[in-house]
Amino acid sequence: MCGIVGYVGGEEAAPILLDGLARLEYRGYDSAGVAIFDGERLRVAKTKGRLRALSDMIQGGSAIRGSIGVGHTRWATHGAPSDVNSHPQVSRSGRIAVVHNGIIENYAELKAFLVSQGVDFASETDTEVVAQLIEYFYDGDILKAVGRVLHRIEGAYALGIICGDEPERLIAVRKDSPLILGLGEGFNFLASDVTAIIKHTRNVVYMEDGEIAELTREGVTCYNHLLQPVRKEVSHVDWEIDAAEKGGYEHFMLKEIMEQPEALRRAIFPRIRDGEVILEDFGLSDEYIRALRKIFIVACGSSYHVGMVGKYNLEKLLRIPVEVTLASEFRYMDPILDDNTLVIVISQSGETLDTMAALREAKGLGAKILSIVNVVGSSIARESDVVLYTWAGPEIAVATTKAYSTQLAVVDLLGLYFARKRGSITAERRQAAVGELLLLPSKLEQVLEKQEAIQYFASQYFNHDSIFFIGRNVDYALGLEGSLKLKEISYIHSEAYASGELKHGTISLIEDGTLVVAVATYARLFDKAMSNVVEVKSRGADVLALTTEDRAETMGRNANAIITIPDTDELLLPSLGVAPLQLLAYYIALMRGCDIDKPRNLAKSVTVE
Ligand code: G6P
Repeated sequence: MCGIVGYVGGEEAAPILLDGLARLEYRGYDSAGVAIFDGERLRVAKTKGRLRALSDMIQGGSAIRGSIGVGHTRWATHGAPSDVNSHPQVSRSGRIAVVHNGIIENYAELKAFLVSQGVDFASETDTEVVAQLIEYFYDGDILKAVGRVLHRIEGAYALGIICGDEPERLIAVRKDSPLILGLGEGFNFLASDVTAIIKHTRNVVYMEDGEIAELTREGVTCYNHLLQPVRKEVSHVDWEIDAAEKGGYEHFMLKEIMEQPEALRRAIFPRIRDGEVILEDFGLSDEYIRALRKIFIVACGSSYHVGMVGKYNLEKLLRIPVEVTLASEFRYMDPILDDNTLVIVISQSGETLDTMAALREAKGLGAKILSIVNVVGSSIARESDVVLYTWAGPEIAVATTKAYSTQLAVVDLLGLYFARKRGSITAERRQAAVGELLLLPSKLEQVLEKQEAIQYFASQYFNHDSIFFIGRNVDYALGLEGSLKLKEISYIHSEAYASGELKHGTISLIEDGTLVVAVATYARLFDKAMSNVVEVKSRGADVLALTTEDRAETMGRNANAIITIPDTDELLLPSLGVAPLQLLAYYIALMRGCDIDKPRNLAKSVTVE
C-alpha cells in the first residue's frame, strides 16, 4: 500500500529517490519522505501530502546532499497521515531510518516491551517499532541487528533500512510485500516495483519471502532468514521506460485505455497458432483438465469483475460449475474444494493481500492454483502452480483498464484451451471464437475512435449525483465494472443491477432525469434488455444504451443516446463493451475536476486486509 525505494551509488541520492517515488506514488499518496546520509549523519525530510510537497521542501533534492538513502510514499494504516507518522521512521538516536510497506501485526506488544526498556516513541506507526527495535539490538553490525529483529516481528513487510554508523550499507527485507533489487554498475537499488528503477537499470532480482539483502555501491548479497548467503537469479526487464510515462496524454488512465488494443495483441497473439489456443509450458496435464469438476475464481475489485464475466464464459464453454468469489470472503467461508477443483486467482498486481490469503487457503485445502497476473515475479505468480501472465505492461493509474481487458482475454483463451482438451464444444464453435479473438484488438480500435461521442455524452451528465448501470448475464457483469470505474474516479454514487432485479426495489429510485446506462450487447437477451429500457424510460430516466452496431436502430427507438460496438463472438462482447464505459467514467471525472490517476482514499495495490 506504500511505495519504497532505496539507492546507494556515486550520485546525489535525493533527486534519484524523488524520481523513483514519483513512479511509485500510485501505491499511496498521503505523505512522503526520504532519509539520506549527508556525510556526517542521517538527514530526514518528510511531510504530509503529495510528493510535490516533499520535493518543494527539499528543493527538488538539492537541499540534502549524500549518495545513500531511502524514500517512501505512504497510504496510511497505523496512524493518520501526518508529518510525524510519515516515513522514514527513525530510531531514538536518529542513527537508524526505516521505510516500510506492509503491517507489523505484533507491533503493540513489541512497543510495550521497548517502552518498558525506557524507549520513547514519537509516532503512532508500527514502523517506528521496527526502527527502535533495530537500534535496541544494534551493536555495530546493521545486518545482524536486522536479522535479530526479523525473528521477532510478525506481519507483512518490505523494508528499506539505513544506519548512520555504517553509511555504505543499505539493507532490504521482504516478507509478503513486494520488493525488488535493481543492479547497476557502481550503484544499486531496492524498490517496491520495477517502474521506480527502470530508468537506471533493467537488471532485477526478485526477493523471496524471508530474505534479507545487503546493498553497497559495489554489489548486492542476499541472505536467508538465518543470514546464510543465497544465490539469486538476475532477471532482465524487457519493457521500455515509455511504458511507465504518460507519453503526451493528460492522464495515465487515458493512455492505458488507449493502449488496450496493443496490450490485447501481446496477450492473445503469441497464444494462438493455426487457429487453436496453445499454452506453452502449461503445468496442468490433459488428464487433470478432463477430470475437472468445478472451478472457483477468486479476486478483488475489477479483477473480481473479470471473474464475473469469466463465470458466464467458462460455464458456457466447459459446462461445469464456476463459482466466483471475492477473495476477502473466500478465506473465511470454509470453501468446499477437492482434487478436481481448480482455483483461478486473478490479480493485476499479484500482491493484493486478500487475494494472496485466499490463494494460500485454497492451496492448503489441496486445490491447484492457476493465476492470471500482470506483474511478473509477484507473490501471487510465484505461489501459484500455473501462471498465465497478461503482459499488459506497467499499469500506473489506480483505476485499472488495460489489466482488466487483458485478464478477460486470458480467461477466454484459457476457456477455449480447456474446451478443446475436454471436447466440450465443437471444433467449429471453438475456431469461430479463436478467429474473433484475433480480430479483437482491431475491433477495439474502432470502439476507441468513438472517444469524442462519449466525451460529448459525459458533458451532458457529469453533474449527476447518482447513475445506475443495468444489464443481464455478461452485460450485468460488465455493468458492475462500468459502475465501479465511474464511482472510483468521479465520486458519483453509482450501482449496477441485474436488470431483472430492478423491479424488486431499485426501480423506486428512478425518477425524472435519473441517468441509467443500459448495457445491452448480448444478442440472446436483447429483447429483455429493451423491455428494461422501456421500464426505466417510462419512469423518467434518461438512458444511455451500449449495444452492438446491428441493434442500434432498434435500441434508438427508446434510448436517449447510444454507443455501439462492433458485433463479435458473444464471449468477447465485454472485451469491446468495457472501453466505452471506461471512457465515460474518465470524461465524467475529468469534467468534475477529479484527480483521475490518484483518486481519494484508494491505492492501486492493496496489501492490507
Ligand atoms: C485495488 C485497485 C483496483 C483493483 C483491485 C484488485 O482496489 O484500485 O483497480 O482491481 O485493487 O487488485 P489486483 O492487483 O489484485 O487486481
